Amino acid sequence: MSETTSLNQPLGKLRLGVNIDHVATIRNARGGAHPDPIHAARVAEAAGADGITAHLREDRRHITDPDIDALMASLTVPLNFEMAATDEMQAIALRHKPHAVCIVPEKREERTTEGGLEVAREENKLAHFIAPLADAGCRVSIFIAADRRQIEAAHRIGAPVIELHTGAYCDAHHEGRIEDRDTELEKLRDMSAFGHSLGLEVHAGHGLTFDTVTPVAQFPEVMELNIGHFLVGEAIFSGLDSAIRRMRETMDRARRDAFGEGVA
Ligand code: PXP
Repeated sequence: MSETTSLNQPLGKLRLGVNIDHVATIRNARGGAHPDPIHAARVAEAAGADGITAHLREDRRHITDPDIDALMASLTVPLNFEMAATDEMQAIALRHKPHAVCIVPEKREERTTEGGLEVAREENKLAHFIAPLADAGCRVSIFIAADRRQIEAAHRIGAPVIELHTGAYCDAHHEGRIEDRDTELEKLRDMSAFGHSLGLEVHAGHGLTFDTVTPVAQFPEVMELNIGHFLVGEAIFSGLDSAIRRMRETMDRARRDAFGEGVA
């Protein structure tokens, strides 16, 4: 049962951040320059992306330092720079000063970002870590599970934005675990409202597809979705431009169905 009432109108237009990491994954499988993630970012911009997201991992398995240089030099929409809370990444972010940084947990052995950041356990360290990034003008966001303790901790450390991890919801959906899916969705709904009630801007992402995006897009407090792997996979069948346009339309339709015409 929710303790925080959800809004009955969205806070604003729902932004789409397109994550281009896996264009770089395909490029790196062979070495060389093709497919070029910077080209993908340009296609995403033209297809309606409100921002580009890229995760520079410690092992540089997909996005590389020159990719970040090139994105900073050429993007016309904001860059959301995903990074682990390490000194190396902090120095890179402070050098580039991207529009946004999203702090994510990172383990070398994982295939993708498996869970949210443990903010509650590392509050002091993270508060000190994000302060210079915020001072440099970056919008700091913290990638966390839809968990009240983590949201409260993100608020206490002074992060203006949280991104809620939608992976558990998407996995349950695609594995046909309907009860788990509904439980995860309910958590995401409640915790979006809770985050907003604390004054945080709420984003969401990880694992979203055409089949799973609609209910998340209908949370009125959610301002931005970051979506990557599915779009890059779908691009194999329909092209990147078409995949992004269809995602954008699905998000807009979701908002209109929930809140009426004239609302996106
Ligand atoms: N948001 C964050 C913080 C992420 O780490 C990722 C994956 O890099 C995404 C969104 C996008 O997830 P996916 O590639 O599964 O759409």
